[in-house]
Amino acid sequence: MATLTRQPLAPLALDSPAAPREGLGTLATSLVGSEILRIAAEVRQLAAEGKPVLNLTVGDFSPREFRIPAELEAGIARALAAGQTNYPPSDGVAELRSAVRDFYAEALGLDYPLEAVLVAGGARPVIWAAYQAILDPGDTVVYPVPSWNNNHYCHLTGARGVAVETRPEEGFLPTAADLAPHLAGATLLALNSPLNPAGSGFRRDQLAAITHAVVEENRRRGPGAKPLYLLYDQIYWLIAAERAPHATPVDLVPEAAPYTVFVDGISKAFAATGLRVGWAVAPPYLVTRMRDLLGHVGAWAPKPEQLATAEILGAPGCARALAATVRDAIDQRLAALDRGLGALAADGLPVRHLPPAGALYLSLHLDLIGRFGSNRAIRQHLLHEAGFAMVPFHSFGTRDDNGWFRLSVGAVGVDEIPPALERVRAALG
Ligand SMILES: Cc1ncc(COP(=O)(O)O)c(C=O)c1O
Repeated sequence: MATLTRQPLAPLALDSPAAPREGLGTLATSLVGSEILRIAAEVRQLAAEGKPVLNLTVGDFSPREFRIPAELEAGIARALAAGQTNYPPSDGVAELRSAVRDFYAEALGLDYPLEAVLVAGGARPVIWAAYQAILDPGDTVVYPVPSWNNNHYCHLTGARGVAVETRPEEGFLPTAADLAPHLAGATLLALNSPLNPAGSGFRRDQLAAITHAVVEENRRRGPGAKPLYLLYDQIYWLIAAERAPHATPVDLVPEAAPYTVFVDGISKAFAATGLRVGWAVAPPYLVTRMRDLLGHVGAWAPKPEQLATAEILGAPGCARALAATVRDAIDQRLAALDRGLGALAADGLPVRHLPPAGALYLSLHLDLIGRFGSNRAIRQHLLHEAGFAMVPFHSFGTRDDNGWFRLSVGAVGVDEIPPALERVRAALG
């Protein structure tokens, strides 16, 4: 056997500032990294140093606190044992596509044909494909802030993002009056409910008014003109607060169906962020294009995960029951934060929060801008003085001096919350 000589390649500056970065494309070099991931790295560093940290940063689940449902795990194992390890069809296995179609009909009252369902490796590829399929460089995307990652998806498509500020009184969701001035000439309106970062969901009347505005704008444009599309990311809907039933634009205003792209998946509903199963439900002419785009990237969901998800969605009542277990565990944590933060406020500390509204999140306001000057500085103070790690709303596109923060509970134990809030009391006292 020939002897292999290992070549020392590191001296060729493979990963140093001397590497030929200048030769990269402008899309890559002008990408802005995720601030949330940067903050998460800072938190990991503190934890590695042995400091107590309540990590309320990432919109993820710790498998220690939130294990995926046993049914999902068993279904994946069965599919693997049955040798389901080859390429799935590029729009998803037929079992899962029909299960999504039937589940949407039964649970959301949306009667779509099979050709309207596209499965991919999580919600992210679906959002990317929708942006790519709909937008040309320079097209306008309207999105409310705070919201998750629309700025990055605009950058990836060369679209012009119009960020519309929202208010705490509205749970940080936009109203039709907020959006209406920006819709003329826009190509995409990107909405998310329940909302990352606030957890709040649209009221039916609020969403109906927005959807009517989209339909009206398309009526004005007439056939032949490029329409205004509505991206409706409902990835958290199965874990929305029980008292706030989820609403969809197409159920409220069926005329919006030709322009609406639903984004959904199992990442949050089944605490299964690492399994990578998401889907779009959209008009078939658009789904075909999105499928072709994703086919070139190969961003398919793994076949065993698709088949296991199909079994769960297909079993009557199963998806809702499993999501309810996830929601109950989330609610316990949100309730502990709600109680503890309420007690700090009652004691006169400059703390205010919105009532938990579902999903994984709670919105916290710290009236400390006068003392610290920016959200960044407040965050640093609480991280280092209290081991209390949160993400400022400006990571979701708002200004850096509004004093609002997202607390995300998927990676913390219920018992960790009271001692952490005592540390916050000391740090703010
Ligand atoms: C609103 C929203 N949409 C989509 C995603 C991404 O979901 P996935 O992990 O399935 O790609 C997230 C993740 O945090 C999210 O908050």
